[in-house]
Amino acid sequence: MSNEVIIGIDLGTTNSCAAYVEGYKDGAPSVKLIPYKGGDYTVPSIYAIDDKGNELIGYEAKRQWQLNPKNTIYGAKRLVGRTATSDIVETMKKVVQYGVKPSGDNKEVMIEVAKKELTLQEVSARILNKIRDVASNYLRVPVNKAVVTVPAYFSDRQRQSVKDAGKLIGLEVVRIINEPTAAALAYGVGKNLNEKVVIYDLGGGTFDISIIEIRNQVFEVKSTGGDIFLGGIDFDNAMIHYVLREFQAKTGIDLSTDPVAMQRIKDLAERTKIDLSAREEAPFNIPFITMTPQGQPLNIEMKFTRKLLESLTSDLIDRTLKIVAKVLVESGLSTKEIDEVMLVGGQTRMPIVQDRLTKFFGKAPSKGVHPDEAVAIGAALYAFSLKDDTNLKVQLLDVIPMAIGLEKADGQMHVVFGRNSPIPNAKQLTGTTSVANQTELIMRIYQGDHEAANMNEQLGEFTFGGIRPGPAGSVKVEITFDVNVEGILKMEARDPDTGKTLNTTVRVTQS
Ligand SMILES: Nc1ncnc2c1ncn2[C@@H]1O[C@H](COP(=O)(O)OP(=O)(O)OP(=O)(O)O)[C@@H](O)[C@H]1O
Ligand SMILES: [Mg+2]
Repeated sequence: MSNEVIIGIDLGTTNSCAAYVEGYKDGAPSVKLIPYKGGDYTVPSIYAIDDKGNELIGYEAKRQWQLNPKNTIYGAKRLVGRTATSDIVETMKKVVQYGVKPSGDNKEVMIEVAKKELTLQEVSARILNKIRDVASNYLRVPVNKAVVTVPAYFSDRQRQSVKDAGKLIGLEVVRIINEPTAAALAYGVGKNLNEKVVIYDLGGGTFDISIIEIRNQVFEVKSTGGDIFLGGIDFDNAMIHYVLREFQAKTGIDLSTDPVAMQRIKDLAERTKIDLSAREEAPFNIPFITMTPQGQPLNIEMKFTRKLLESLTSDLIDRTLKIVAKVLVESGLSTKEIDEVMLVGGQTRMPIVQDRLTKFFGKAPSKGVHPDEAVAIGAALYAFSLKDDTNLKVQLLDVIPMAIGLEKADGQMHVVFGRNSPIPNAKQLTGTTSVANQTELIMRIYQGDHEAANMNEQLGEFTFGGIRPGPAGSVKVEITFDVNVEGILKMEARDPDTGKTLNTTVRVTQS
């Protein structure tokens, strides 16, 4: 991997950011963020097709989304790696203006945009491609490799999806690392620290928390948790619902079925929310939002105070703190043993988030990392450490966020790796045939913390074929479960008596 640039990419729900290490400065690796047109270091994770059929990505897509809500895709990260029938897909359908539907075989989610149908991997691939092109132009070398970050709470399937997105555009995702772990790298690399830190990452779409012990260049994740359906978008939605209710109470008109009106409200909701981090109140006015049945134009004329926003969203912050409390218990540490609380993600700029964390930990959060840039910087540092000609050696000891196991005959989950199990990790199970001349062994593998297997996410139905014929119970099958450093599971089976590897096929059967 020498002499080759490997960039770090934070593929965010709302914004993406990329960085690379340009070399050494005063003995330490020097990280540069990759600027986009206009000098911004983040680019909106938005993909659109305009009425002429042109593809727009980033700012260009964001600029036109009010006028073209049906063909503007945002928040795609929330859908990536989901089965078409998952509850989350149903919830997303209600809040986005673009079309979301099951694929032909009902296994995947498809996005409808300008009469085209795209998979989520294809949408992610286009955003990754944009980031890669900007980086290639800026660095004046082709960029073909990247370390890409994902929420710590992403499942195996979601991680695999991101790798597949890279493949579609010939971008090798050399390593997937967790966003909070990347932020810890940005904070701790080259500083000779001996600290236990909490990374509280509340972004646009996901909430992640990791408790990480930093011992010089060793970054050991003690425990992790999160909610991949909790982020800034939900704060916006709380405001949107309030506006819709108020408007309906006043005029009797339901704006929720009008895509253009909804897009205008959504846009202003987010801007007002951001404003309210810096001031106590803000107007909420949208002229000509709709018309009365008699053709009279109607406006939205409201005011939001910071207090109102806080009351509409306090349950969201409660949810994050519940997860923080649980993850802290699992780390075996007390709040007093935590040296620093690091804030990552744009939504942590909301003052009450910081106040509540200060109360929880008994100390104010640290300003040690930049909330928008830390993840990309950490990814770039890690990318640099993977090169052959590097002097930077960091060791990441990460964990899986949810248990991985198999479905028992009674439908319960047999846990193979518990949540917070260190990765990489491998385990073996040995089974025997249960009927005479059995040629196949089928196993359904799930990820999640529910006791009933089918309440968790199915990673696949593994069929091990070509078993030696013999009486029931006479033939052994040894199955190896291997979770790699990226949190992705591979399985293999062999006949321990002959040493022969069995054929493995995987499919997803959960609907
Ligand atoms: N000053 C602010 N006050 C409150 N919220 C803000 C502020 N600035 C940005 N946000 C919110 O932060 C969110 C975006 O955060 P960020 O860019 O960290 O997310 P992301 O990395 O794209 O998402 P994720 O990490 O969840 O995939 C948006 O919902 C945005 O409205
Ligand atoms: Mg983020």
